[in-house]
Amino acid sequence: MTSATDFIFETNKAKHQTVEQGAFTWSAPSNIALVKYWGKKEHQIPANPSLSFTLNRCKTCTTLQFVRKEEKGISFDLLFEGQPKEAFKPKIQKFFERIVSYCPYIADYHFTIDTTNTFPHSSGIASSASGMAALAVNIMSVERALNPAMTQDYFLKKASFLARLGSGSACRSITGSVVVWGEQTDVDGSSDLYGIEAPFEVHANFSNYQDVILLVDKGEKQVSSTVGHDLMHNHPFAQERFKQAHQNLSQLKNILQTGNLDQFVALVESEALTLHAMMMTSMPYFILMKPNTLQIIERIWTFREKTQIPVCFTLDAGANVHVLFPEKDHPAVLAFIREELSKFCQNEHFIEDKMGNGTLMIQ
Ligand code: PMV
Repeated sequence: MTSATDFIFETNKAKHQTVEQGAFTWSAPSNIALVKYWGKKEHQIPANPSLSFTLNRCKTCTTLQFVRKEEKGISFDLLFEGQPKEAFKPKIQKFFERIVSYCPYIADYHFTIDTTNTFPHSSGIASSASGMAALAVNIMSVERALNPAMTQDYFLKKASFLARLGSGSACRSITGSVVVWGEQTDVDGSSDLYGIEAPFEVHANFSNYQDVILLVDKGEKQVSSTVGHDLMHNHPFAQERFKQAHQNLSQLKNILQTGNLDQFVALVESEALTLHAMMMTSMPYFILMKPNTLQIIERIWTFREKTQIPVCFTLDAGANVHVLFPEKDHPAVLAFIREELSKFCQNEHFIEDKMGNGTLMIQ
């Protein structure tokens, strides 16, 4: 699959089934980028490649019911935690409009989308990656019902392709524990169109890698992703940054294979700070870290120096801190988080997560 046209569902194919109605339920996790995607072209094509760890506990679970209708057109109801949620509808409407040329059958059905998150909505954890990934695999289940001959590889790639059109980083939440999205010469099969599971052996040091998310600021995002990515247009450092992301991805690929945790720590923290540096040096400019974000970072550095435990942080486009560390260091790092870091979180709230595997069909 090398071009977007490979993902257009061909109507009128003799082997396609007629399906009147049905329902599917899938869960999809969030993911945390280590090499960050920041800056995009039209149709959510990334300006640089990114690499993420898939999470395990921070998930969206979505049931998609569908019933065939007479007249063609996009039609759906949206429930969030069992209650109608009008506020989320425009985003889903836009998603359906973007994917209808690839999935024309969606205009033949009325959908009821019922979605819940395992993490609190107001936690400051973006649900767009897990939410769009969960919806995309559900849509692909409908497509597979219409076209049972579809291969698993096509199912996963098109699910990632569709998720990307909903929210760029969502395409990294479909399958695999380590996912690369965006063309990179030394990563076989990598594509700007969808995420792929890292096509190389990942060292055992990274098995079940831990991610504790410190909820420093549970408020609404100060800068939406759309506005944020746009800031990279005409950004004075954009081209250098895009070049650096390619270099960092090559280096990270090597680190993940060799298991060098000191190099991992340095690269991951540098990527996080570079993302924020891009925001601080754009016009308009933003500081998305809070004083408590810096308190946490300083304490992580002191703890690492003192214990030699290779714990590090990464950041999204916000104030929350992801604390990353090997599974074997879980007891020591968790005690440190409880004793020294939780006081910098809103209501001392943090979420213990770790590396996961991607979407799961529940029904
Ligand atoms: O997927 P979006 O458009 O919400 O962008 C996500 C951007 C970052 O989270 C900051 C980085 C990334 O690669 O996930």
